[in-house]
Amino acid sequence: MSNIKKIAVFTSGGDAPGMNAAVRAVVRSCIYNNVRVAGIYRGYQGLIEGDIEELTARSVNHILQRGGTVLKSARSKDFRTAEGRAKAHEKLLSNGVDALVAIGGDGTFTGAHFFNREFDFPIIGIPGTIDNDLYGTDYTIGFDTALNTVIDAVDKIRDTAASHNRLFFVEVMGRDAGFIAAHAGLASGALAVLIPEREMTIDQLLERLNEARRQNKSSSIVIVAEGGKSGDATEIAAHVAERMPYYDTKVTILGHIQRGGSPSCFDRNLASRLGVAAVEQLLKGKRDCMVGMVHHKVVLTPFEKAISDKYQLDNEVVRISDILSI
Ligand code: F6P
Repeated sequence: MSNIKKIAVFTSGGDAPGMNAAVRAVVRSCIYNNVRVAGIYRGYQGLIEGDIEELTARSVNHILQRGGTVLKSARSKDFRTAEGRAKAHEKLLSNGVDALVAIGGDGTFTGAHFFNREFDFPIIGIPGTIDNDLYGTDYTIGFDTALNTVIDAVDKIRDTAASHNRLFFVEVMGRDAGFIAAHAGLASGALAVLIPEREMTIDQLLERLNEARRQNKSSSIVIVAEGGKSGDATEIAAHVAERMPYYDTKVTILGHIQRGGSPSCFDRNLASRLGVAAVEQLLKGKRDCMVGMVHHKVVLTPFEKAISDKYQLDNEVVRISDILSI
């Protein structure tokens, strides 16, 4: 029998489509297991300020299909201080909370790991970020939806690019990881993908563009990851325009549109499974770790490992993209 009688759930860091589905799953699986459940608004900042509300199964009606997070999100500076964390601990005790479920990315889990060690407080994490950059899960919640948003946008850009024989540089999110760029590049038939994981110099890019001209390609899309080493899309486009003035170059920065929208079926199901798993694992006594999905099975990874180990982008994605872009 677990001595956990009340669990609180919160979302933190950049929001991601499917976070609401995870919140719903945590809330309902608590109630299913006769455990009380509360929602903390605005992540760690809301916790410090005591912005906590008891939830019921009905509190999470009709949020499964909604993007964003109904619990709101924030990046808290106060939680980085010992004083802030002590306040957060006090609020948990005064609200009768015995354990936490943190939905977010590596910043969220770094805070959770610290808090767990400092106060010996049970916390389990659920990976929610469009970046897909967490070790311990094949996919993070939100990545699939963000990818579909990117593909939809690039398909539209391609229509106009082809009509005007233009070269488009499309910048996508991902912070310092190239998962979104590489997967979107493959799925949208991009001519080249510039990602932090693989150096492609401007000269190599120019060579690829020259080859495309020789192959009679009249328009092309280059996907640029925001964390790429060769510069951002605007800088790269400027270099190319200078060296290849005959190209009509354009830049589109997709920005926060990638974070919004109704979660895909994949993200809803992933979030639902991980939400239930997080509660079940807490009740089994697990803590200080993240639940993830590896080869379709739920696995636990210590926060320390999830934060410090690097989830490597599969080179095959880039290799196949290169083969098919000839
Ligand atoms: O981590 C998710 C993410 O969308 C990154 O891809 C991006 O670099 C960052 O968040 C943007 O953060 P903000 O919304 O705070 O500008």
